[in-house]
Amino acid sequence: MKVAIMGYGTVGSGVAEVIDTHEDVISKRSGGIELEIAKILDLRDFPGDKHEEVFTKDFNDILNDPEIKVVAETMGGINPAYDFTMKLLKAGKSVVTSNKELVAQKGLELLEAAEESGTNYLFEASVGGGIPIIRPMSQCLAANHIEGIAGILNGTTNFILTKMIEDDMSFDDALKLAQENGYAEKDPTADIEGHDACRKVCILASLAFGKHVYPSQVETEGISNITLEDVSYIHSANGVIKLLGQIKYIDENNIAAFVSPAVVYNGSQLASVRDVFNAILVRGDAVGDVCFYGRGAGKLPTASAVVADMVDCAKHVNRRKIFGWGPGEEDYVVDYKTQLEMPFYVRAKLSESEVVSMFNDVKFLSRKGQPSDEVAFITDSMTQAKLYEILGDSKVLNVIKVTNY
Ligand code: HSE
Repeated sequence: MKVAIMGYGTVGSGVAEVIDTHEDVISKRSGGIELEIAKILDLRDFPGDKHEEVFTKDFNDILNDPEIKVVAETMGGINPAYDFTMKLLKAGKSVVTSNKELVAQKGLELLEAAEESGTNYLFEASVGGGIPIIRPMSQCLAANHIEGIAGILNGTTNFILTKMIEDDMSFDDALKLAQENGYAEKDPTADIEGHDACRKVCILASLAFGKHVYPSQVETEGISNITLEDVSYIHSANGVIKLLGQIKYIDENNIAAFVSPAVVYNGSQLASVRDVFNAILVRGDAVGDVCFYGRGAGKLPTASAVVADMVDCAKHVNRRKIFGWGPGEEDYVVDYKTQLEMPFYVRAKLSESEVVSMFNDVKFLSRKGQPSDEVAFITDSMTQAKLYEILGDSKVLNVIKVTNY
């Protein structure tokens, strides 16, 4: 079957490589389907590339080729990826993508367009890179009410935090190393400020509960405020700091969803996820906790998920996969700060006796070189709003949520 790739960057070139090198398994597992790369869209030139003859700079070459039935969109960003994907779906072609920004922002419109034209819009690679999570959630866990999801959804930040925890490296040095290793983008804002993880939370929440959740509804905090002092105090509590995306079912009409640094106690599956690896823990009412772990980014891991979606589309070219979600609602995602109770890690310029007078129950932490005017502790369970009410105008240096995953 003729297919096309839009965007020949890291993931797109990985898609071509996986198609080229895994013909045998693709054919065996799909009942004889062979994917033939008929067109690759990219504005750049790739002289000497194996696929040099099929490159085009004109999207219409793909749109108007009736033999191309499946297209991989690995361009990233909203535009022109949205426009191209919409036109392809309306023209009766199935589209698969690794573009989390597009799915999180425009997934509903694109899924509706696919439904109208009897095509498929699949996005396994958009969350967790090579980790199977979209299909397992929508198919294998279909009989469960999902109670909650917690995920380490960004490889770059997990790498930085691992270096801080294990090698005592400062945030700035760890970020520099992540950039040197090619994990973080030159402008690493989307990674370190949590926007990339936020997009993935939107996709998981939309899929789990059937209503579109938009990035603007998910409060997001990155890791740039985390210091080696925090890492050290939390180590003394037998925990680690991870950037977590958390989703919690409240009732038919409400969920909580947020991205933030979180204290994860050793013993949790999520605590042992190191380096650039991702993990997604799904809590179902029948199955209990299931954890999906693997490489959440990178050329071949992400391409492996994109190509699997292409094969799935090729197998279902005249059949729709029942898949996706409906419209969202403005008040659907609650303000977790006033609604959810949890313990908090607090580091502040306070004395222990001042802390004891403020809270009923706290666990004090310690670190090497702790100054006499600094205190760190874990509170009892309470809302974040209540925590700040108690702390008042105390000199707080950092507050980190403690997760129950
Ligand atoms: N920059 C992302 C990460 C890539 O580090 O996980 C995948 O979204």
